[in-house]
Amino acid sequence: MFPTLALVSLSFLAIAYGQQVGTLTAETHPKLSVSQCSSGGSCTTVQRSVVLDSNWRWLHDVGGSTNCYTGNTWDDSLCPDPTTCAANCALDGADYSGTYGITTSGNALSLKFVTQGPYSKNIGSRVYLLSEDDSTYEILNLKNQEFTFDVDMSTLPCGLNGALYFVEMDKDGGSGRFPTNKAGSKYGTGYCDTQCPHDIKFINGEANVLDWAGSSNDPNAGSGHYGTCCNEMDIWEANSMGAAVTPHVCTVTSQTRCEGTDCGDGDDRYDGICDKDGCDFNSWRMGDQTFLGPGKTVDTSSKFTVVTQFITADNTTTGDLSEIRRLYVQNGKVIANSKTQIAGMDAFDSITDDFCNAQKTTFGDTNTFEQMGGLATMGDAFEKGMVLVMSIWDDHEAKMLWLDSDYPTDADPSAPGVSRGPCATTSGEPTDVESQSASATVIFSNIKTGPIGSTFAS
Ligand SMILES: *[C@@H]1O[C@H](CO)[C@@H](O)[C@H](O)[C@H]1NC(C)=O
Repeated sequence: MFPTLALVSLSFLAIAYGQQVGTLTAETHPKLSVSQCSSGGSCTTVQRSVVLDSNWRWLHDVGGSTNCYTGNTWDDSLCPDPTTCAANCALDGADYSGTYGITTSGNALSLKFVTQGPYSKNIGSRVYLLSEDDSTYEILNLKNQEFTFDVDMSTLPCGLNGALYFVEMDKDGGSGRFPTNKAGSKYGTGYCDTQCPHDIKFINGEANVLDWAGSSNDPNAGSGHYGTCCNEMDIWEANSMGAAVTPHVCTVTSQTRCEGTDCGDGDDRYDGICDKDGCDFNSWRMGDQTFLGPGKTVDTSSKFTVVTQFITADNTTTGDLSEIRRLYVQNGKVIANSKTQIAGMDAFDSITDDFCNAQKTTFGDTNTFEQMGGLATMGDAFEKGMVLVMSIWDDHEAKMLWLDSDYPTDADPSAPGVSRGPCATTSGEPTDVESQSASATVIFSNIKTGPIGSTFAS
């Protein structure tokens, strides 16, 4: 009797809850060591791991192997509505290297752009740093701290983005606030950012099946009724031709599902709850075209170290964030950030509210960043805690031209702020980069955090 009862109650549980866990592939998180430094410069290595975002995972019926989602289409019978779909469908474990081209070795993480796996061709990936428990996200507050890593992006061409950034996700991936999400951070759920993406398959413990439409130019992506928004600090968005560091803020203080105007889509760009433009420091865009690139001052044809300092007004971890400073180290030499060389602007070499205001005014850009509280709001997000993201992606909407070319493409490229990098406006077409640069790989390594000045040798 008892075993039968137990089975019955288990299958009832499977109906009562959703966004389940599949067991066809074991979920083994790749290990990654990171360093925590103390003032004076001594660092301790700790073992952490990374987890693949849930959107990339095989989604199939609970207890079976029928796809809930194929290409960019939901299965109508398994997913007739958001809650039934979450109850019927399970996120499975990932073959990190074989299917997704994600490998780690010691303190280095490699993300390969295109991976031909046994069942599918995978494009790009996104992983999160897990804490020492190997199942919840590591939460970091970088106020009055420094974040440092090495990057090799020598193989990333125009149109690709090897990104390292922070977003204000829930530590448990949202499984606490939304109990129908049974998979949680161990399966990489709960993503959000300031673009309030609509391509996320599960938001707030429900499938994003309402109004779902497959992308016109991406066979693997679509977008649903809801978006998912939260604060975002882009420490590094880059390819071998250019790089940007960009804080973005929102009017909400944790992962928030949006719909309608709040998502800031299309013509509503400046009416949403997040600042989609951010306040970017891209050396090329700020007037120094000789600073970063192959053979330049920061030579992207080989590995270098990126240091980002989060200075607060009172030099404490609770003070208002007042400045984001950047420097580089390559071949044992510390390289100061480039200085702004734009007519009508002072020579800034860091991100402050003064820099953001001057840049937006000079470039004629809408200043949503300051309207939503500027750097202090970014700092508040860090004080609450942010999750580290590392990814590689191409851009089916704007070909990454906002990072490495002239953008918007209909603006005069000689007008201030339009030229962002040396890439042609015809570059970055996903079909081109996916076929021509399939083996492009970004390697992030030697991640260190600690007090200002503790993570690199000067
Ligand atoms: C914070 O530290 C900087 C650099 O050491 C120093 O110049 C500044 O005066 C300090 N600010 C405060 C409010 O203590």
